[in-house]
Amino acid sequence: MTFRLPPFSRRGFIGSGVAAAAASAVPGLALAAERPLGPSLAALARAKGVRFGSAVGAGEPGSLTGAFEDSGYRQVLIDECGVLVPENELKWYVLRPDARTFAFERADRIAAFAKAHDIALRGHTLLWHHPKWFPAWLNTYDFGQGPAAGRNAQALLVDHIDKVVAHYPQIDSWDVVNETIDPKDGSIRRTVFSDAMGQEQTLDVAFHTARAAAPKARLVYNDYMGWEAGNEAHRAGVLKLLEGFRKRGTPVDALGVQSHLGTEDPAAPGSLGPPQEKAWRAFIDEATGMGYDLLITEFDVNDQNLPPGVAARDAETAALAKAYLDLMLDYHQTKEVLAWGMVDKYSWLQGFTPRKDHLAKRVTLYDDAYRPKPLREAVAAAFRSAPTRA
Ligand code: G3I
Repeated sequence: MTFRLPPFSRRGFIGSGVAAAAASAVPGLALAAERPLGPSLAALARAKGVRFGSAVGAGEPGSLTGAFEDSGYRQVLIDECGVLVPENELKWYVLRPDARTFAFERADRIAAFAKAHDIALRGHTLLWHHPKWFPAWLNTYDFGQGPAAGRNAQALLVDHIDKVVAHYPQIDSWDVVNETIDPKDGSIRRTVFSDAMGQEQTLDVAFHTARAAAPKARLVYNDYMGWEAGNEAHRAGVLKLLEGFRKRGTPVDALGVQSHLGTEDPAAPGSLGPPQEKAWRAFIDEATGMGYDLLITEFDVNDQNLPPGVAARDAETAALAKAYLDLMLDYHQTKEVLAWGMVDKYSWLQGFTPRKDHLAKRVTLYDDAYRPKPLREAVAAAFRSAPTRA
């Protein structure tokens, strides 16, 4: 049975006394007792000066599939989140069917939902600077030759950012550039934009345009370098990029640390991938030392390599998450924590890298029956023990 929180639940306080009493009095609401009692994650985070929320995908227009169409899922978002992020709906490959058209419908549906429930909206992403995630027409776009090519490329990029930012004036935190560092060698990726404008110039244009279009918004460089082994070149490349932004006066406010925890490395069987904690702290120290704020933008824990037992899996992912979040929240620069989905069955990780035993992964804070998991409690505990920031 799909559980829905009764209509009289209050945002910011889940499983209130009223709801709990109703749950015991009404047999059909028995599952209410399993919802967390106490403040929502948004409220726990807010008490420490942090914003908590989640990504959500809206599917295709007219489609009845996807998390956003599921009322149980929506209720989890309403109950727990202070901010929502469209998972794919602001990406070029969804928004831009061609060079002239903007297809805002899918993202608009999420924006309307957020507004109706008094939840903030954040933006992902104005420029996923990787040809794999460009629409096909863009990868083959003819910008012309010589200096005109640079001007034409810049005009297209600026027009995109201007129009998207203007369409969502309520967005106060933008992943302006996403994942442009190649994890193999730390270099900046090449695209049609960078071939026409230059690599650093392309990224700088994106940030300057975003700053002019949304002067008060937090502008973020977002990437997935992690604390597991194998991320050394990626981390070094990101630091070099951040250093370049500072040297050139590029308006970047924060580093988005995606935080897809857990490893798929077959060399780490039965584990989540031992963290390189010392190297990670050094990386975060360098980023914050350059004056960047931090956001955890895409939190989940991939249990790919863990043994099948559910209780042990849940305990291990929760313990790792608590250790990681404690470390990150200890930095007063950490201002937002975003889960990359709230309910296991809708996580991108289910289809992206299935487990060898084909069991469903348990990567998010809620299980498929909308019951909070130990991972949710780990996040709540991390907020409770976090120092307060301004
Ligand atoms: O909507 C179509 C559907 O019509 C079709 O039947 C189906 C068949 O594959 O594909 C559906 O589109 C998929 C879409 O997710 C919606 O589920 C795309 O193939 C798939 O590539 C896309 O994956 C997204 C991925 O980014 C690429 O854009 C994931 O949902 C999304 O969670 C993931 O998010 C990224 C962040 O943006 C950046 N950081 C890493 C993170 C995880 O990869």
